[in-house]
Amino acid sequence: MESGMMKTIVMAAATAGLLALSPALAQAADAEKGEAVYQKRCLQCHGDEGDGLGPAADYLNPPPRDFTLGLYKFISSAFDADLPNDADLLRMINDGMPGTAMPGWSDILSETEIQDVIAYIKTFAELEGAPEGQVDFGTQVQSSPESIAAGDKLFHDGERCSECHGVAGKGDAVKKLKNDNGERTWPRNLTKPWTYRASADPKDIYTRISAGIPTTQMPSFADPKSKKKLSVEERWHVANYVAALAKTGKVVRPENTVIQASRVEGELPGSPDDAAWDLAPPSTFFMVPQIVGKERFFKTANDTVSVRALYNDAKVALHLEWDDRTKSIPGDDKAKSIADEDLGEDAIAVQLPTTIPAGMEKPYFLMGNSVKPVNLWRWSSGTTEAPESVAILDAMGINEQEARDATAAGLTAKGSYKDGTWRVVMTRPLTTEAVDKDLQFEEGRFVPIAFFAWDGSNSEVGTASAMTTWYWLLLKPSTGAKPMIAGIIVAILIGGLLFWWGRSAAARVASEGTSGGDA
Ligand code: HEC
Ligand code: HEC
Repeated sequence: MESGMMKTIVMAAATAGLLALSPALAQAADAEKGEAVYQKRCLQCHGDEGDGLGPAADYLNPPPRDFTLGLYKFISSAFDADLPNDADLLRMINDGMPGTAMPGWSDILSETEIQDVIAYIKTFAELEGAPEGQVDFGTQVQSSPESIAAGDKLFHDGERCSECHGVAGKGDAVKKLKNDNGERTWPRNLTKPWTYRASADPKDIYTRISAGIPTTQMPSFADPKSKKKLSVEERWHVANYVAALAKTGKVVRPENTVIQASRVEGELPGSPDDAAWDLAPPSTFFMVPQIVGKERFFKTANDTVSVRALYNDAKVALHLEWDDRTKSIPGDDKAKSIADEDLGEDAIAVQLPTTIPAGMEKPYFLMGNSVKPVNLWRWSSGTTEAPESVAILDAMGINEQEARDATAAGLTAKGSYKDGTWRVVMTRPLTTEAVDKDLQFEEGRFVPIAFFAWDGSNSEVGTASAMTTWYWLLLKPSTGAKPMIAGIIVAILIGGLLFWWGRSAAARVASEGTSGGDA
């Protein structure tokens, strides 16, 4: 939050400075020079004609902005002004747009170059001058439990915001939304602050509620014609509520690469909603689109998974939790109405090696190979005809899998979906009879573990999935044995690299898309 606030303060200063300077800048900015910058840096995504149809566009979700419309999303001008402020564009170009492929350019382009390119992109829609009206901020209402409670009520009253953002704010699709170009759009999962294009600071949220998000169905709540309009004070309450909501999501801690399973006496919690799970600390990992093996898939919906683990003298249980905006049950009419073209089952898989490696060596992360095969425990959400199910896949690569009955290995799974979140528990005996096929768990040993997830409403099936890289699962010894410090240090080092890998995936998607590779 600190840095978010800093960012906002710096931004506010920048905005004030720029607005004051704008007549001078309008003269200084040079659209012709901006064109050169655009050709070099922006065209791959935004297209030669500024229509958002650059060569990389097919791989990007959300799609690059179509500048010929002259409409911008993250604006601080009034909802009925026809123009953005230059400062709004400057900010998005400087900082980039988290959760999208739009990179930040502040390290690459000088401020003058950015101003020139702003002047140039405005020519695609012949935008001129400055907007007439600005968002009215009135007097900011500081956050407090009372303000948050008032905002909570306004958020849900008449489904003002929950209509799109869901009861718990997780963006679980209640209905199908489209942008002005007819492309599918999704409301934000407000509990994931790293996906806010601007920020989850109350002032930014207030700005969005007031100005709306042009080109999308997110309306302005300052518009006096709106049946659901809000006063200045009410908008601050809602902003404080949403800012608080943004703090409730699970946080990815890149230094945390080890899922620690505690030993419990007696039964393991078999239900995903059992309160006993609250005692096990969650480890949350980023998931990235599977773009390594064929068929590649770029537009996955799920971006994180949280994992908890417990074990007893006989079994190990994994609790997997991830936000999925759609409950995808083939055969279900409501699920079909929200789904993209094809409706498949939601699914999650845990990937394990078939034996605990002696050192730090792990199988190939993408479902192993013939030298080092892997096991996948794959749970599927079921259809209206068939209940949820779990299978074991013996895999030697992404296109080399054989499904096997999970019951022989004693693997069971149970899932539950509520307000945009799936929770699934998988339980297996520590040891099985198929010693050459199934991993045999041992206390105190680091076991490589990775995850795959499929959103069935987003046409994700087979190789089209979201995935993590390898992490570690450790059954913490209850007594005696010391944890393997060296192992943990190595895991942290590797984890740092992998974190970088995850974060830069979006950037890579774009460059692969433009390099004219074998996509
Ligand atoms: C790798 C692809 C990519 C590149 C390169 C790229 N953009 Fe974008 N840009 C996007 C995407 C995707 C969006 C839409 C994000 C969204 O709708 O939330 C976007 C949105 C924008 C917006 C809209 C901001 C708003 O509030 O609506 C501006 C302005 C913009 N880009 C400017 C630029 C400029 C200038 C450059 C070159 C210096 C550039 N972009 C390069 C992908 C890219
Ligand atoms: C009709 C549907 C709809 C309604 C109603 C709606 N939103 Fe949204 N909202 C969206 C969509 C769609 C987006 C994603 C826009 C995009 O970036 O493409 C969004 C995005 C947002 C964002 C993200 C801003 C950012 O920086 O990324 C916030 C915050 C938000 N909405 C808050 C609210 C609040 C608060 C309300 C109620 C006062 C509300 N929304 C009502 C559809 C809606």
